[in-house]
Amino acid sequence: MSTNPLERNLGLDLVRVTEWTALQAGRWMGLGNRIEADRVATEAMLAALNELEMDGYIVIGEESKSGRHSPLDTGNRVGKGDGPAMDVVADPIDGTNLLVQGRAGAISVVAVAPRGTMWVCAPAAYMEKIVVDREVGRALVPECLEAPAAWTLALIARCKGKDVRDLVVFVLDRPRHAELIEEIRRAGARVSLHSDGDIAGAIMAALPGHGVDVLMGVGGVAEGVTAACAVRALRGAMVARLAPQSRREWEAVTQAGLDTRRILTCEELIQSNEVFFAATGVTDGPLLDGVHYHGRYATTHSLVLRGETGTLRRIRAEYTLEEGQTSTAAVRFFDAHPVAPTGRERA
Ligand code: FBP
Repeated sequence: MSTNPLERNLGLDLVRVTEWTALQAGRWMGLGNRIEADRVATEAMLAALNELEMDGYIVIGEESKSGRHSPLDTGNRVGKGDGPAMDVVADPIDGTNLLVQGRAGAISVVAVAPRGTMWVCAPAAYMEKIVVDREVGRALVPECLEAPAAWTLALIARCKGKDVRDLVVFVLDRPRHAELIEEIRRAGARVSLHSDGDIAGAIMAALPGHGVDVLMGVGGVAEGVTAACAVRALRGAMVARLAPQSRREWEAVTQAGLDTRRILTCEELIQSNEVFFAATGVTDGPLLDGVHYHGRYATTHSLVLRGETGTLRRIRAEYTLEEGQTSTAAVRFFDAHPVAPTGRERA
């Protein structure tokens, strides 16, 4: 038997975590309650992560961006503590607004890589990103983040054997992107605007055949590191740099010694090929179908990626639901695994 614990496909453990989280979160579709949806999903994900045989360390949480603390904040530990030492990024719902407004594209995501191999960027909140698939690969150079969008789009079109006007660019619909959107349109490419969910956007850009040629723009830093895990496993390419959106964030980032001019590649964001990634759809979307409840059973659709082998699995799971399950089960699960104190409480 192998002595290398990483030879197990941890992705198959992770997908049980995202399936479980999506099953709980899916109940909040269209109910308009962002806070509760987030709380239930976080508790479900934490409880499921704590069932895994690993010594997990959350490398970057969402507290800097959201201003709210959670058991999945930067620096918290997850897992039983007795397995391999892993860096972890966990987003119970990417696209919380999408979920509570009943819109397409909310997903539940988690990724792990050996301890010390994910880029440490707390307390940053925002990051500028460009993501492409393996066809473009190494042609995506760090200079692309500084060059005019038209230059980068011409390069991508050349690599893909397309015209620039054939390219679809995923961009988050935010006022900060007004100029970028203008630039892309002037270059002749088509903009696909999304109200939320740039992890799914990055995966679609890195996964050929999903109707997105490139993701551009500024989104969350935790989402950026999480997306980088998938992009690395998919052999796509990514360049990114921190993009503080307020003076407060700027000061926090510089005080922490982070260089806002540094442009990182995917291999610098995630420095190991032994990366595992799982995502489950919460609401139906272009990447994954969401959770569908059918009374006594529910179905989930997931994606599992393994960096070392480049394996991509799509898993459709059918869960038998007991009476009352998926409304109280997360809480029971959670009670059995008390929340670790947040970084702030510990300090
Ligand atoms: P949440 O689900 O945590 O709200 O994140 C959604 C999201 O759209 C991310 O996909 C994206 O990276 C980030 O928010 C962008 O942040 P902001 O909404 O502040 O522009």
